[in-house]
Amino acid sequence: MTDKKPVMLSGIKPTGELHIGNYFGAMRQQVELANAGTHTPYLMVADYHALNTVQDAEEMRRRTRELVMGYLAAGLDEKKVILFKQSEVPAHTELAWIFDTITTVPYLMRAHAYKDAEAKGREVSVGTFNYPVLMAADILLYNTAVVPVGQDQKQHIEYARDIGEKFNRTFGTETFRLPEPYILPHVAVVPGTDGQKMSKSYGNVIPLFGSREELAKAVMSIVTDSSGERPKNVYAIHTLVRSPKELEALYEQNKGNYKTLKEALIEDLDHFLTPLRTRYEEVKSDPSLIEQVLMDGKRAARAASEAKMEEVRRTIGVV
Ligand code: ADP
Ligand code: TRP
Repeated sequence: MTDKKPVMLSGIKPTGELHIGNYFGAMRQQVELANAGTHTPYLMVADYHALNTVQDAEEMRRRTRELVMGYLAAGLDEKKVILFKQSEVPAHTELAWIFDTITTVPYLMRAHAYKDAEAKGREVSVGTFNYPVLMAADILLYNTAVVPVGQDQKQHIEYARDIGEKFNRTFGTETFRLPEPYILPHVAVVPGTDGQKMSKSYGNVIPLFGSREELAKAVMSIVTDSSGERPKNVYAIHTLVRSPKELEALYEQNKGNYKTLKEALIEDLDHFLTPLRTRYEEVKSDPSLIEQVLMDGKRAARAASEAKMEEVRRTIGVV
């Protein structure tokens, strides 16, 4: 792993069961890029971001393990990737503080996540308000070139660019490289069973590692758009595992026959997900693998981020 390759970095919070929106929207691209050897790949369990909502120690540990197992089951080559826990690399929170001092309150008040929480009348924690600043630190610490994510994270990457740019301008340096998002248009927003964006927080997910029964239950609950002959949501999810060309005949022959189409979708999703499920069980049977991967990741991420922090500390004049 040389530093000459462009850096890819992404993160996922250990906040709930992984779903096919996470996989097709983000994880698949992350795993492909990480395995390709074209980038220096960092993947991060964003546990300090998750702490805004997961405030139970056992749940945090379990979700963290599940997330790492999920990545390995999705085919991530553990020998190529630097996979680490955000909490184990202190530079993230340190750099977030430094960024706090150059970031204004009105600017953070424009973030979608904050505005949504406000609109729902929630009392927003400082951690939630500051979320984009910590995420900017996550990304900028490693001179990241590309950040593979789903569409909902686009604004956060713009925040990272803005904050990096402001730091460079304030201190008259080129300390931070400005990252680009990597978002594939056809999977940017995977719909859930109710047609909204699939999300843990909406209860509309198709689980990535659920049993066939759970899969079938979720698919059968997909809301069908009765105005057309082709059920929009069923079709949209179907295109994740079959090309539109392959689906043409099936949807033509079964116009208006939602039950048959859903059964076909269950079959195709199950076929696609079975190898992932099998691999998940294999990974689960070897807990030492997860520990080892996170330990190696911690070491590598600490080394890279400490070197960057030395540069940052010199730039701001604290050393
Ligand atoms: P959730 O909305 O379920 O809480 P996260 O915020 O943990 O999901 O997202 C983890 C990653 O998965 C992010 O990169 C996010 O953009 C992506 N992602 C989540 N849901 C979807 C979706 N429905 N379509 C596309 N990408 C998604
Ligand atoms: N905010 C991201 C999400 O909700 C998780 C995340 C934290 C992340 N730090 C990151 C994603 C850095 C990409 C890069 O999914």
